[in-house]
Amino acid sequence: MTRHLLRDDDLTAAEQTEILDLALELKNDRWREKPLAGPQTVAVIFDKSSTRTRVSFAVGIADLGGSPLIISTANSQLGGKETPSDTARVLERQVAAIVWRTYAQSGLEEMAEGTRVPVVNALSDDFHPCQLLADLLTIREHKGDPRGLTLTFYGDGRSNMGQSFVLAGVTAGMHIRIAAPEGYQPRPDVLADAERIAASTGGSVALIADPEAAADGADVVVTDTWVSMGKEEEKIRRVQDLGSYKVTDRIMGLAKTDAIFLHCLPADRGYEVDADVIDGPQSVIWDEAENRLHAQKALLVWLLQQQ
Ligand code: CP
Ligand code: NVA
Repeated sequence: MTRHLLRDDDLTAAEQTEILDLALELKNDRWREKPLAGPQTVAVIFDKSSTRTRVSFAVGIADLGGSPLIISTANSQLGGKETPSDTARVLERQVAAIVWRTYAQSGLEEMAEGTRVPVVNALSDDFHPCQLLADLLTIREHKGDPRGLTLTFYGDGRSNMGQSFVLAGVTAGMHIRIAAPEGYQPRPDVLADAERIAASTGGSVALIADPEAAADGADVVVTDTWVSMGKEEEKIRRVQDLGSYKVTDRIMGLAKTDAIFLHCLPADRGYEVDADVIDGPQSVIWDEAENRLHAQKALLVWLLQQQ
């Protein structure tokens, strides 16, 4: 059966672990797997800007023996004249998988519906599951087994990153704290899904409005831009609303002494995080960015094996 990764909870806890185990193996033996030898092509489609996702998928697909076809929707029919469903019918006859960065989650669902090849969410307004695989890999490398670790996410908890941390984090058995004000908390249905997953993994999710209380004893501190792509017109209001959720030296000082700092990048230094923190000794952001490559290669190998 064709499997897709549209949101983080498309993977069970066991499947997430299997993919992360493989990612670590591929990090140590980069050219071992060639499921795309031929070369077979993978379509990588962008409705929004990207550096890390574009590069890591292009490099990763080539590492796997394949050929990446990078498509910008600005000069394709998708998003204008053609539906995701019709686009998928055309692509599935020629490519081995479809990777898509877009706005609405519903577009990805339509793309995946009935499509014979795996569809991967490379970031939507609601979720960024590829980033979370890389982040969990980074946590495993620096902190060991993620089960039972406490992670605090600061800022826009209703963003793709906030909601993906909730779902992927509880799947990994972590205690996820969202430090966000009213109006920036994850959607109730996402929280309900996380509670259901947490019941079987031993993880948990908590909403903590007080930014200092949310840092207390955390193993991992995370933030992301306050102004996600598509929200640019709300910048002034967002900076006002989220101003007290900046990750500072003081916040890092309340977390565990060996806590690590993560940020998916790109970062706005001085807004969601102080330069002292993101460029400081607890920051592991460059490992995190590299791990996009290894995690996504493992994901593609795994998805192609399920066919
Ligand atoms: N973190 C991330 O997805 O970065 P890009 O927007 O550069 O792809
Ligand atoms: N939340 C950010 C993530 C960028 C990788 C955005 O959607 O712009």
